[in-house]
Amino acid sequence: MGKDTKKVSGTIDGRETSVPRGSILLRAALDLGIGVPTLCHHPGLPPDGNCRLCSAETGGRLVASCLYPLRDDGFVVQTRSPLVVEARRFVLGLLLSRAPADGYLLGLAGEYGAKADPRLADGADGCVRCGRCLRACRAAGSEAIALVGRGWGRKVAGPFYEPPIDCVGCLACAQACPTGAIAFSEEPRSIWGRDFGLARCGSCGAILGTPGELARSGVEVTLCPSCRRREYSRAVASLPPAQS
Ligand code: SF4
Ligand code: FES
Repeated sequence: MGKDTKKVSGTIDGRETSVPRGSILLRAALDLGIGVPTLCHHPGLPPDGNCRLCSAETGGRLVASCLYPLRDDGFVVQTRSPLVVEARRFVLGLLLSRAPADGYLLGLAGEYGAKADPRLADGADGCVRCGRCLRACRAAGSEAIALVGRGWGRKVAGPFYEPPIDCVGCLACAQACPTGAIAFSEEPRSIWGRDFGLARCGSCGAILGTPGELARSGVEVTLCPSCRRREYSRAVASLPPAQS
């Protein structure tokens, strides 16, 4: 099937715009310079739409703008209507109850007048259950961690709450986490209760990764990118001149 090249037009916060049909609302808003707060969204990962911080109003209902496709001509979207502001305040209260010291959430909470719910203080472990770590793990080629348990007690962990055997120590999860909730050490390498050896560049000693991470790439790597470039330049320079 050919690509849909039709455009649809509408307004976001009263500003007219025309976008390819199916464009994601968040992208369209950002392209207009309209700031929409996000948390579970990461531009390099598949969207999940679970935090609802990016909610916007269209047709009298709330949608997650990081997931919502603009399909119909004449769309009318508000990213700061009273309904949106109220919903965002509520969501921020819940997120803040999970991560009460997070600077980004505190800034937004000030803006929207949101407060952490003291009755939920037992879940304040810094993790907002956004799932970015799970999606980063999957995108990197593993499924080492998951959201386990139910309701407010749900948490990110390895199978049976044990150190995950499928983890290769690549740190993709920790790098994707918006609140810095995942404890890890880069050198020596440890994360999720497991320790990992580190392979190093055969020339300069820079860290190449953990053995599991390198094996997952399927390519044998012995030099870091800059040493590889240098070796390549040397090899090219030592070639005999081309015959004319
Ligand atoms: S550990 Fe971080 S990335 Fe994973 S769910 Fe919690 S807040 Fe999100
Ligand atoms: S950023 Fe859109 S639902 Fe989380």
